[in-house]
Amino acid sequence: MNSKNFLPYARQSIDSSDVIAVSEALSSDIITRGARVEYFEESVARYTGAKYGVAFNSGTSALIAACHVADLGPHDRVVTTPNTFVASVGAAVHREANPVFVDIDRSSGNCDLEQVEHNLNYPLSRGKNIFLPVHFAGIPVDMAKAQMMIKNPDTLVIEDAAHAFGSMYSDGQRVGSCAWSDMTIFSFHPAKTLTTGEGGMVMTNDSNLHHRLKRFRNNGIERDPRYLEGEPNPWYYEVQEITGNYNFTELQAALGLSQLSRIEKFIEKRRKLTKIYREAFQDVPHVKMFSAEFDKQAAYHLCVVQIDFGAYNKTRRDVIEELKREGIGPQVHYIPVYHHPYFKRKMGDLSSYFPQMEAYYQQALTLPLYYELEESDVRYIVDVLKTILTRK
Ligand SMILES: Cc1ncc(COP(=O)(O)O)c(C=O)c1O
Repeated sequence: MNSKNFLPYARQSIDSSDVIAVSEALSSDIITRGARVEYFEESVARYTGAKYGVAFNSGTSALIAACHVADLGPHDRVVTTPNTFVASVGAAVHREANPVFVDIDRSSGNCDLEQVEHNLNYPLSRGKNIFLPVHFAGIPVDMAKAQMMIKNPDTLVIEDAAHAFGSMYSDGQRVGSCAWSDMTIFSFHPAKTLTTGEGGMVMTNDSNLHHRLKRFRNNGIERDPRYLEGEPNPWYYEVQEITGNYNFTELQAALGLSQLSRIEKFIEKRRKLTKIYREAFQDVPHVKMFSAEFDKQAAYHLCVVQIDFGAYNKTRRDVIEELKREGIGPQVHYIPVYHHPYFKRKMGDLSSYFPQMEAYYQQALTLPLYYELEESDVRYIVDVLKTILTRK
């Protein structure tokens, strides 16, 4: 048995500098949205190459905000992947837009761009098409290629980069630069490469969207004299729409800034561990990792393997239970979104339309990957998994 008690599939890395940064923020006069939040937004914008960042209290809120300021509505179609967390699609559903799923490419877990092309160029008598790619596990969708496929200039692009903080496109620009999109969202949940406890951010290069995102975050409140309908006064503000409170705090920003100073170390370690997994699984039959072609670009968030459990005469359920007994906590990313009862009730059973997603879902298993995981832990995990698979 490994020296550690339990190896979960993901966990945060918090060090003493994070603790000091959050304690300092806690002793400040302002502990909700203040100067640290602005500095964190600017720092993430600088890191990714976007003009603006607006921090939210979760990645889910960031998606809801993005879909709101993009004015999604009931006639709009949101072309996206079923291999994702519900929030990617839920934000569009909040706006009564219609999700349109496309099948996936099993070499990356991302949406199949040929199917995206077909669906995005679907002629609409009303409403608009929105492309909402998810950079699954940190592997960037080829946005330059996707952009070339979009024929209608009114098509909006919102990237869900919840998994991909620090990843790069093939031309070296960072995910989050919005080089090929209107907005990109991040999540800073503890499972992600960089955490603020809970938190998220929307990146954009558009000053109008930036302005609206900030107004959305704070109950639709407008204070900027340029946008007021009434007379500006020291106490005066206007509610111009009803939204909610999605504010990000100084404590979260302090943690985010402290984590950001270690981002390259985080990414490098995740790449190194992924490489060790890759080498260790190389000669193991019926176990596949995603293509190595993304190894230089991806800031890997998850380590997903696809296992033909049937070939080993095993069920995934038994393998997961046995791994847990050995102190390893795998997960499955993801149950196809259209399997969930909410979507089944709305759209019926869509399984037969997505053979790649279905085949992937049968085989997917997420193994531990996080900064504090050690190389010896990865070797232990692979050895235990191989033993479980081949045990009679
Ligand atoms: C692909 C994807 N999008 C959006 C989210 C939502 O982020 P959050 O948990 O910060 O609300 C997640 C969270 O796991 C995610 O994996």
